Amino acid sequence: MMPRRIFFVTVLLVFACGLLPAQETSSKHAPGVQKQAFGTREGRPVNLYTLTNSHGVEIRAMNYGGIIVSIRVPDRKGQFADIVLGHETLEGYIPNPPYIGAIVGRYANRIANGTFPLDGKTYTLPKNDGPNTLHGGVARTFDKVVWDDEPLKGKTPGVRFTYLSKDGEEGFPGNLTAKVTYSLNEENELVIDYEATTDKATPINLSQHSYFNLASEGSGDILNTELMLNADRFTPVDKNLIPTGELRPVKGTPFDFTTSTRIGARIDDPYDQMVLGHGYDHNFVIKRKGSGLDLAARAYEPGSGRVLEVFTTQPAVQFYTGNFLDGTVTGKQGHVYKRRNAFCLETQHYPDSPNHPDFPSTILKPGQTFHEKTVFKFSAK
Ligand code: GLA
Repeated sequence: MMPRRIFFVTVLLVFACGLLPAQETSSKHAPGVQKQAFGTREGRPVNLYTLTNSHGVEIRAMNYGGIIVSIRVPDRKGQFADIVLGHETLEGYIPNPPYIGAIVGRYANRIANGTFPLDGKTYTLPKNDGPNTLHGGVARTFDKVVWDDEPLKGKTPGVRFTYLSKDGEEGFPGNLTAKVTYSLNEENELVIDYEATTDKATPINLSQHSYFNLASEGSGDILNTELMLNADRFTPVDKNLIPTGELRPVKGTPFDFTTSTRIGARIDDPYDQMVLGHGYDHNFVIKRKGSGLDLAARAYEPGSGRVLEVFTTQPAVQFYTGNFLDGTVTGKQGHVYKRRNAFCLETQHYPDSPNHPDFPSTILKPGQTFHEKTVFKFSAK
């Protein structure tokens, strides 16, 4: 028999552990996927999915816009924090001018003058960024629609979102079926799979627009985060942030992140491209080894020790330092998101490719399957 005092102390300890908030513990968790109602949009239910692995890493995403609502990962001491900007409710994302957490498409990033030629025809798109079309247009863009949803309950928890973008929607040709799958594995990797098919040739460029702050969302600017970009060239832009067509070596410029460098070290340099971008808002050409996953970027936040590595099959990554966040968006826990309070690493094809025959093609034809993959891997050191 257990002596009475030891019994009471044990009961007390078990009780106290139960009271600790889940995010503060690093104990074992059951991996899985949970679905909960998160509101309605266009008369359709919006569901929030929580993916968890056994290390307690937790990713929440919803079928409105395929938006990643939160990512909770540990720091070097095992303390968990949410490292992406976002909102606590669906209403917070309506509207969502900075595309926080969303899947962007049918064509991520910019198409100059809202027009492109394809197979002898000229297509015209709605403009939403000065003279350009940004992130797919105005009304029914991938970040603003309710996707079909399906939890994936296999060994690796996941969720699949599917959207049929109809022929002519936002000016694009062809019925395009897009599938985006998020899964969370035991290596603390969020794996994003993109797949699409079409019944008419169309440009396609899909990306994920999460805003990261590895110290924790709402904790201030990201200028101290150290970044490595596996890119020795980038695509300079004109005053409308459209690529000029040049592929410029990063060597000797503030765009050289081939060795890990503080994001803030050169961000206010009077270099032409930095001035045009109001900071970093540029497409970096990834040094590819083959057609598989390659390392695109590694970010390290020295205070918390958190590390984010990005691997991708895509040819490029848009490194954006939240230059347009201006304090008008209030997010989780009343945090006001200001300029450079987060960064994005949007894996993608080059902006405005449909108007640049020299850039890797973004045209998907009937009978072909578009397939890209990006991995966000979280760790701490
Ligand atoms: C991308 C663009 C930026 C900006 C954001 C959204 O990163 O390149 O210029 O439009 O999306 O605010």
